[in-house]
Amino acid sequence: MARDFDLLVVGDANPDVVLSGAPRGLAYGQREQLVSGGDLVLGGSGAITACGAARLGLRTAFAGRVGDDAAGRFVLDVMAGRGVDVSHCVVGPRPTAMTVVLADGADRAILTSPGCLPDLTVADVPRGLARHVHVSSYFLQPALAAGLPGFLEGERRAGATTSLDTNDDPAGAWDGVAGVLGEVDVFLPNAAEALSVAARLPQPPGSSAAAAGPPGGHPEGVEAAAARLGALGPVVVVKNGGDGALAWERGSLTRAPAVPVEPVDTVGAGDSFDAGFLAARLRGMSLPECLRVAVTCGSLSTQAAGGTAAQPTWKEL
Ligand SMILES: Nc1ncnc2c1ncn2[C@@H]1O[C@H](COP(=O)(O)OP(=O)(O)OP(=O)(O)O)[C@@H](O)[C@H]1O
Ligand SMILES: [Mg+2]
Repeated sequence: MARDFDLLVVGDANPDVVLSGAPRGLAYGQREQLVSGGDLVLGGSGAITACGAARLGLRTAFAGRVGDDAAGRFVLDVMAGRGVDVSHCVVGPRPTAMTVVLADGADRAILTSPGCLPDLTVADVPRGLARHVHVSSYFLQPALAAGLPGFLEGERRAGATTSLDTNDDPAGAWDGVAGVLGEVDVFLPNAAEALSVAARLPQPPGSSAAAAGPPGGHPEGVEAAAARLGALGPVVVVKNGGDGALAWERGSLTRAPAVPVEPVDTVGAGDSFDAGFLAARLRGMSLPECLRVAVTCGSLSTQAAGGTAAQPTWKEL
């Protein structure tokens, strides 16, 4: 079936105020504390993935909610300027989500006001628009999450493929994802997220901690988590920062190292990785090639402040 778009991203968009060189212990008491840099950039996992995909040449649409306010106009303008179709976004009534990122080298604290994000539901999302539907930030959008299994099932029945990047769960509960993965073709967590979601699955008999363990510290743990998540249906692609990524598909594991870079700002690396993986997959590339494109997009995105400034074109890759 001919589709208007290669990719529909369903998810979150907000301004990110990124303050670099922020102190670890913030002082209260109205003390003014100076930091080394400040940027106002497009944020939100879905928005960053959509921009990355458009830059890689995919015909990309974004469906989500923003407020009827300056922050909402900012995110829609930036996405439209990057060639993302935002005509399906719902505006208002609650304010646009807003994030302050306190960045300290490769680590950061993230403060988010969810604003209108919890209002997004599958009823807001157009059907049959794209060859592939990607959903971001599962836990920031509980009303959307509740309708996802049925929505994704319908999109797949109509011939589309699907992917999910949950990102972090601020509540730390990690509930519900297992019920969606059966309708997901590609699951794209980072290592900590893979371990947390897998830890909520019924544990296989005879395993003690099963997939538990700190990300990076127990590579067997991440692999076991990927395998158990993959048993629910999807290809599982686990991002692991400077260690690159691995992918599990039908019992076989593929790895790709990160591109060695000195990161300027890792905000949005995972979302740019997602864009690269999906662009390669929609071009029909093999899993190892998709992984190589993805880690390259992730690593390149760390070379500038914010999530979208250093995203490459397909030619630059
Ligand atoms: N310090 C780094 N050096 C090189 N590459 C990196 C670094 N950090 C991230 N990357 C690249 O970006 C990819 C995704 O990064 P990461 O594992 O941080 O995803 P994430 O936690 O989902 O990120 P996000 O915060 O955007 O959600 C990695 O697989 C790697 O290719
Ligand atoms: Mg992520």
